Amino acid sequence: MTTTIRDVAAAADVSPATVSRVLNGRVEVRADLRERVLAAVAEMGYRPNGPARSLRTRATTVFGIIITDVQNPFFTSMVRGIEDTAQRAGYSVVLANSDEDPEKEQRYLEVAAAEQMAGVVLAPAQPSSRRLETLLDRGIPVVTVDRRLRGAPVDSVTVNNHKAAHDATTHLIERGRRRIAIIAGLLKTTTGSRRLAGYKAALKDAGLAVDDEFVVLADFRLEGGYAATKDLLRRAHPDALFASNNLMTLGALQALSEEGVAIPEDVAVVGFDDISWATALRPPLTAVQQPTYEIGRRATELLLDRVAGDGSPPRHIVLPAELVVRGST
Ligand code: RIB
Repeated sequence: MTTTIRDVAAAADVSPATVSRVLNGRVEVRADLRERVLAAVAEMGYRPNGPARSLRTRATTVFGIIITDVQNPFFTSMVRGIEDTAQRAGYSVVLANSDEDPEKEQRYLEVAAAEQMAGVVLAPAQPSSRRLETLLDRGIPVVTVDRRLRGAPVDSVTVNNHKAAHDATTHLIERGRRRIAIIAGLLKTTTGSRRLAGYKAALKDAGLAVDDEFVVLADFRLEGGYAATKDLLRRAHPDALFASNNLMTLGALQALSEEGVAIPEDVAVVGFDDISWATALRPPLTAVQQPTYEIGRRATELLLDRVAGDGSPPRHIVLPAELVVRGST
């Protein structure tokens, strides 16, 4: 017979809700009660998530995290939020880098299934994942972060990318710029496509034309931002640049510096993802700030709820991303 949360509660002489609170780590529990619960859990080999989990022969207290660029500080800061929250609830994490490659991502999803991980936090490398069944059929919950997966019955934690990009572009318009370029990210991701859409909507809302010569598609990487900026300077002569993620912004700044472009006199610059070095720049960078740590924390809380057996419909948490105005605009 599978040990249930009620068996553990009886053994520890606490309520099932207290057992759930101890395992979720979301609310502080009195130390003596927490000790009793953890002792009972260990002693009885209790694994949360009742029936779904009983589908699995053995379960672990390990969460898999699959991100798309392990060298991007946005993701590592988000992973910090995931790990802290998981640790507090007694879970460990393992980190995988899909490199924006759907095939590599799929291989890691299969590893998570084979290793019977308790759950997976995924930043999807593609817009729809036909193959989450690898995990969902085994009762392994998945939460997506940063990007959405179309048609997947899973929770998600993202920011409002469309609004953030709209705010960034509107800010440049209000600063009197009219030749506003965007360096867009991978359009197969919702962060890439929604930021581009927000940029275009802001121009339209201001009665300005959307001119494709000011739109360059890149890859969320430094080199992509660098090459895109060189290309824009050569053929489009923008007076403003919205680089829609941190690494592309860094590449753009390197290209602007090489070309002797004065910021903001010649070209005003807005980045996406506020980074520690933004204020060290001269002039300091105007950027959209993502609640990176919070994205990780909230996603892990959702995953813990699923592991504890929460069978409610998928939840989509959308956190605010704030434009921080500094000297580069
Ligand atoms: O720099 C990281 C951000 O840019 C994330 O939102 C990621 O999706 C990429 O778009």
